[in-house]
Amino acid sequence: MAKIISFGIQKGGCGKTTSSGITAYLLSQHQKVLAVDLDSQGNLTELLTQTDIYDFTGSTVLEALKEQDASDYIYPLTDNLHILTAEDLLATFSRYLYTEFRGNKALVLKQTLQKVENHYDYIIIDTPPALGDQTINALAASDAVVIMFETSKFCYSALSRFVETVGHAQDKLNPNLKIAGILRTLIDNRRSDAKAFIELVEEEYPNYPFHTIINRKAATGRIPIHGLTENPEINQAIDQYHDFVQELIQRV
Ligand SMILES: Nc1ncnc2c1ncn2[C@@H]1O[C@H](COP(=O)(O)OP(=O)(O)O)[C@@H](O)[C@H]1O
Ligand SMILES: [Mg+2]
Repeated sequence: MAKIISFGIQKGGCGKTTSSGITAYLLSQHQKVLAVDLDSQGNLTELLTQTDIYDFTGSTVLEALKEQDASDYIYPLTDNLHILTAEDLLATFSRYLYTEFRGNKALVLKQTLQKVENHYDYIIIDTPPALGDQTINALAASDAVVIMFETSKFCYSALSRFVETVGHAQDKLNPNLKIAGILRTLIDNRRSDAKAFIELVEEEYPNYPFHTIINRKAATGRIPIHGLTENPEINQAIDQYHDFVQELIQRV
């Protein structure tokens, strides 16, 4: 059965999509991986498919959630890497939950993935920048969550609330959910405040931070342009994620 891992933090621009996308890609070099885009921006879809997200309209994760079965909506990228895509209409998921859906609103994704999880070693979920229904569903469905931390005051403010939300999910929805760790990313080594935030997170959450710290790197920032297939910059772009993925495998 697959290990299900979500990447989350309710602040935008903290590397959730980049990190979940690269992690799914690296894991798929040796194992079977399903990537799940739970953000209506469709950034993970765009990153991994390198096509227009509206090409998938009508056969996305939203339709899978409504059927509570992902089987017919999985798009194969390679033999080992598959994706449940997203586009704008995923923004209607909450409306659907509160008007049409009958049942536990937090467990829809869990049910949806149950039908396919035996086919994969890992399911990697990218979440939107909000503590809304998609994020709650992701936490309820996951074995582990990677909490993204980009070294800024706003992200620092978001962190404690996210950890609290994970605690709530553990108590009420999913006792098996584990915090895999906090991934510190988008670090600008020239900034003293970035170094201060790295240390602050270590002091406040001593057991959580991954040892690997991801720097801000032009090649990594350009991944959405060229995608994760062969291109001149690819190794440089993903190089810093190899150690993280090894740590993640050991922790989950
Ligand atoms: N290590 C990195 N170095 C440089 N740019 C990065 C890095 N990680 C992410 N980015 C860029 O920063 C922006 C935010 O990252 P993204 O993964 O979209 O965050 P989120 O999903 O949390 O909103 C994107 O433009 C992305 O390409
Ligand atoms: Mg994103």
